[in-house]
Amino acid sequence: MAEHTIENALSADNLPKHIAVIMDGNGRWAKAKGKARVFGHKAGVEAVRKTVSTASRLGIKVVTLFAFSSENWRRPEDEVSLLMELFMTVLGREVKRLHKNNIRLRIIGDKTRFSQRLQKKIAEAELLTADNTGMVLNIAANYGGQWDILQAAKRLVNQAAENGLTAEDITEDMLVQGLSTSGLPEVDLLIRTSGECRISNFMLWQMAYAELYFTEQHWPDFDEQSLADAVAWYVNRERRFGCTGEQVQALLQK
Ligand code: IPE
Ligand code: IPE
Ligand code: MG
Repeated sequence: MAEHTIENALSADNLPKHIAVIMDGNGRWAKAKGKARVFGHKAGVEAVRKTVSTASRLGIKVVTLFAFSSENWRRPEDEVSLLMELFMTVLGREVKRLHKNNIRLRIIGDKTRFSQRLQKKIAEAELLTADNTGMVLNIAANYGGQWDILQAAKRLVNQAAENGLTAEDITEDMLVQGLSTSGLPEVDLLIRTSGECRISNFMLWQMAYAELYFTEQHWPDFDEQSLADAVAWYVNRERRFGCTGEQVQALLQK
């Protein structure tokens, strides 16, 4: 067995391959500052940038960020439209930077409910970065875990009809292939900010064995140190080592 050293603990094998994040608490962060919720959403963009850059530098294979749930349409109309606008602007502004960093961007969720303009922008961004070989960045937008499983089941039914398959022919792998994350490793580490301890219909199938990490920090305050702490917590849980966030951060200097 390999020696219990920090170097071994922090080798790529022990780091989570897929990190999923429920970016929560933008509204509360803004409220605590006496500002409108919108201000929190805008501040949250900077935390996204830091998380993507840190994860990519750590050599994480896949990051999935929950940006807008299928339930979030129930929010006040002006907040929804602001979030859509923000999504448009950020997509336009950030995609070149992602491409330069060899990151493959994918938007997962039911895209049909978005405006034509936004759908076009999404398709362009996905196409531009499609051949990149670095980290995969999934942005979950109008996403729901139940929706994902349902749409995979529907694909399976069509496939079965086309190929004359019966219920006995259906395997777990076939269903997984229809999920929005097909071809990617399952989630190893789920992070949820802002103190809420629930899954909120995020990647239900993909998180079957994930370690769940909840932090009180609001999303706009989440930074490099926060991600390093979460990764260190994961490594320690999985491998029973005692490494620290600082030691994970030291990997970034290499
Ligand atoms: C997360 O922050 C962002 C989205 C869900 C779009 P919230 O907007 O949920 O912030 P809180 O939970 O109200 O503080
Ligand atoms: C979950 O956050 C969805 C996103 C982070 C996009 P919410 O704030 O919408 O979740 P609930 O409503 O508190 O469960
Ligand atoms: Mg919330």
